[in-house]
Amino acid sequence: MPHSMEGRDILSIGDLTEKEALSILLLAEDVKRNPKTYVTALAGGVMVLIFEKPSLRTRVTFETGMASLGGTGIYLAPDQVQMGEREPVRDVAKNLERWVQVIVARTFEHRTLEELASQGKTPVINALSDLEHPCQALADLLTIREHFHSSKINLTYVGDGNNVCHSLMLLGTLLGYEVRIAVPKGYEPHPDIVHKSEQFAQDSGGKIVIDSNVRALSEGAHVLYTDVWTSMGQEEEERERLKAFDGFQVNSELVALADPDVKIMHCLPAHRGQEITGEVVDGPRSVVFDQAENRLHAQKALLLCILGGA
Ligand code: CP
Ligand code: NVA
Repeated sequence: MPHSMEGRDILSIGDLTEKEALSILLLAEDVKRNPKTYVTALAGGVMVLIFEKPSLRTRVTFETGMASLGGTGIYLAPDQVQMGEREPVRDVAKNLERWVQVIVARTFEHRTLEELASQGKTPVINALSDLEHPCQALADLLTIREHFHSSKINLTYVGDGNNVCHSLMLLGTLLGYEVRIAVPKGYEPHPDIVHKSEQFAQDSGGKIVIDSNVRALSEGAHVLYTDVWTSMGQEEEERERLKAFDGFQVNSELVALADPDVKIMHCLPAHRGQEITGEVVDGPRSVVFDQAENRLHAQKALLLCILGGA
């Protein structure tokens, strides 16, 4: 285990080297196989979860994960802390550093996470921001590694160039995969993330392709991944987004273009009938609940790395 990860903030996949990302995944595989080995690894540790948005998977897997490592979690719901409103983000950071060992935060704005991390001594893990969802990507690559024993496959993401897309493209290219992003014009991933992914791909032998031709990009796909068209906080854009994403639904017609053994992925929650049909998300090629389970194992590994319990 790289000791260099102890005490570190994980706000972005870009905060990890290829070696560190791989070591988290290898540890997650061991944690999943041998959970009993780690039951007291973080005894006495306290994690606080500060969430500005709702959550099922992220909250439950972090709390369950910390408890199964011997530590404790405190959940602070969206209306409880009101960072930046009830008190400045800096004061929140300066209080928490006196009490807890790790902060797991889900925020609207990525810069709130950056401020929380820079103003206090406590390591901060990004539990989803408008820019990234790194914990999701770690669980996704853990899932992909369970189904494919080589990185010589292509991951095709169909839909919005959003937080989930950003972390997936960064981690996929960091680890040497070909990542294809099928996205309507105007909803492409952030240029800085594209640039970083291109650099990662160059170093790892991976590849990044971004195009609006969803059918061409889905041909022969080993993984077809999608996420909601309207993310939390974008609700007022829903009508225009429904129009813009017309033709980008992952349905049986699109799946027919992919590799016959394609795995269907979605971070969940899914909007059946929008970005994916019920038939596909609930169908035999879907691994969405494996992904959800793997949130637990990946985050346990991440906590062990950050808190030095490995
Ligand atoms: N995928 C995911 O992060 O789910 P939640 O929003 O329920 O945490
Ligand atoms: N892109 C979605 C992911 C939810 C897990 C959102 O930000 O709402």
